[in-house]
Amino acid sequence: MNNIEWSKLPFGYVKTHYNVRCYYRDGKWGEIEVSSDEYINIHMAATCLHYGQEAFEGLKVFTGKDGTLRVFRWDENAKRMINSAKGVVMAEPPMELFLKMLEKVVHLNKDFVPPYGTGASLYVRPMLIGTGPQVGVSPAKEYLFLIFVGPVGPYFKDGFKPVKVQIVRDVDRAAPHGTGRFKVGGNYAASLSSVVRAHAEGYGTVLYLDAKEKKYIDEAGPANFFGIKNNTYITPDSSSILPSITNMSLRQLAADMGLKVEMRPVPVEELHTLEEAGACGTAAVITPIGEITDRETGEKYTFGKEPGTVSTKLYQTLQGMQYGDIPDKFGWIHVIK
Ligand SMILES: Cc1ncc(COP(=O)(O)O)c(C=O)c1O
Repeated sequence: MNNIEWSKLPFGYVKTHYNVRCYYRDGKWGEIEVSSDEYINIHMAATCLHYGQEAFEGLKVFTGKDGTLRVFRWDENAKRMINSAKGVVMAEPPMELFLKMLEKVVHLNKDFVPPYGTGASLYVRPMLIGTGPQVGVSPAKEYLFLIFVGPVGPYFKDGFKPVKVQIVRDVDRAAPHGTGRFKVGGNYAASLSSVVRAHAEGYGTVLYLDAKEKKYIDEAGPANFFGIKNNTYITPDSSSILPSITNMSLRQLAADMGLKVEMRPVPVEELHTLEEAGACGTAAVITPIGEITDRETGEKYTFGKEPGTVSTKLYQTLQGMQYGDIPDKFGWIHVIK
């Protein structure tokens, strides 16, 4: 057992008992291995270290009132990882392997799944890296698929409280035909300088615009963007943002609540007309946005100091389903036996 203060957990790394690993060698995936080592031993010429052959995922396991463990839409994460693997030419971990390893690593670390009512959950981090050596630019012949887990609290330290966000124009996270729609490390490397600067300047995160014209909203550092106006859920359609599974779910929940749903380019000026704004993602869940400042132009967009009614309803419905308090009518929950 451990003596973690579940309700005080930040979103960060916590050492657990085990991680699970599977190697791709000679054109096929091997057996699942269990490891208690936090380190991996790889070749110094591994392609993940030189050419960014790396992808990861993030999903969560929630404990229900009766102790049931539920994982949210794991199949979408598995599909997105396969898509990321295709995007940077890596071996694709099959869906069955993803689920088997996911269930195994949760079982092995069940002491670390936060109890119901603490606001915390078990974050699951699958990662895929090119481990084979190459000196010329080309894909590796060998890969490691590893899943580790750790208990986490809210991504933004104040939880469901509006954050301040900064629009940046001097840094692009991803190009229109680049890797923005894949969950690969390079996108995050490109974002780091602006994220660090935004934190230092007092903002929770950054909001990127489309790299080509700087006219439309792309997404936030670690999350997609949505806005609410006239009973409509509006979210950017862009080739350079990560297709968020939370956003996909919110679009369905919004439609189910009788809202109109629009996925289309969202011009920056439209921010003035939004009644509510938010960031959404596995880690952020829904984080309401209270204020957006354009770093370059100084323009300010404000949305209020308290979460809006629609964002609150969406948040409660999503979390209610994830913790098992609201029936899962969409088939999004997989119970870990
Ligand atoms: C850049 C970026 N956008 C959006 C998201 C949200 O995606 P999801 O809802 O699938 O977690 C994430 C990850 O959480 C992200 O890193």
